Amino acid sequence: MHLDATTLPARDAYAWLTGLVVPRPIAWITTRDDDGHVNLAPFSYFNALASDPPMVTVAFATRRDGSDKDTLRLLRKTGRCCVNLVEEPDLDRMNATSAELPAHESEAARYGIDVVACDGFDGVRVASARAALCCVLVDVHRYGRKQGVGLAVLEVTRLFVDDALLDPAGRLVPERLRPVARLGGNAYALPGPHTSRDRP
Ligand SMILES: Cc1cc2nc3c(=O)[nH]c(=O)nc-3n(C[C@H](O)[C@H](O)[C@H](O)COP(=O)(O)O)c2cc1C
Repeated sequence: MHLDATTLPARDAYAWLTGLVVPRPIAWITTRDDDGHVNLAPFSYFNALASDPPMVTVAFATRRDGSDKDTLRLLRKTGRCCVNLVEEPDLDRMNATSAELPAHESEAARYGIDVVACDGFDGVRVASARAALCCVLVDVHRYGRKQGVGLAVLEVTRLFVDDALLDPAGRLVPERLRPVARLGGNAYALPGPHTSRDRP
């Protein structure tokens, strides 16, 4: 089958793109308002962008009424967020936090998800997440038609990594991190066996 992607209705384009560009990592993002209110939601239009300085990107769809999602709104307001990485024990709780709650209601509080202060960073991370990237907002670019997306570029200024993921020299052991990834529709992928190749 061949499809003209330029004329696909947005809903179909979404289904094809998110079904084929897989697996996608999940940024489970905590933002905190000045009054201490904590917002928590997952985003899989997420990836690493660069390493000097370390940067990641997250794309936020604009809501039908033209407003920003709470995460992007708070990110713009405070300039900070924490990207928590999701492993299997957090899968259901992460999924639950994608519910569109009223802006004043915290997904963390609603679903009983503990957050803890980030060390050396003015923000909070999910207590059960074994790795988190503390980020400051670099800027937001708008792309797309109609509602469009806000693509946030984030600089990672602080890392939290559970010691259980490290070797004695303090390096990450790739096999120990068991990240959940997003597939098309409501499907998620769990890591299978690892394999590696020497670079040519
Ligand atoms: C696994 C997963 C990945 C998601 N990825 C995105 C994404 O990349 N961009 C987006 O705008 N919404 C994404 N969503 C939907 C948001 O999580 C949802 O709109 C959420 O209510 C936003 O919360 P907020 O308004 O508190 O920021 C995703 C949902 C799930 C379950």
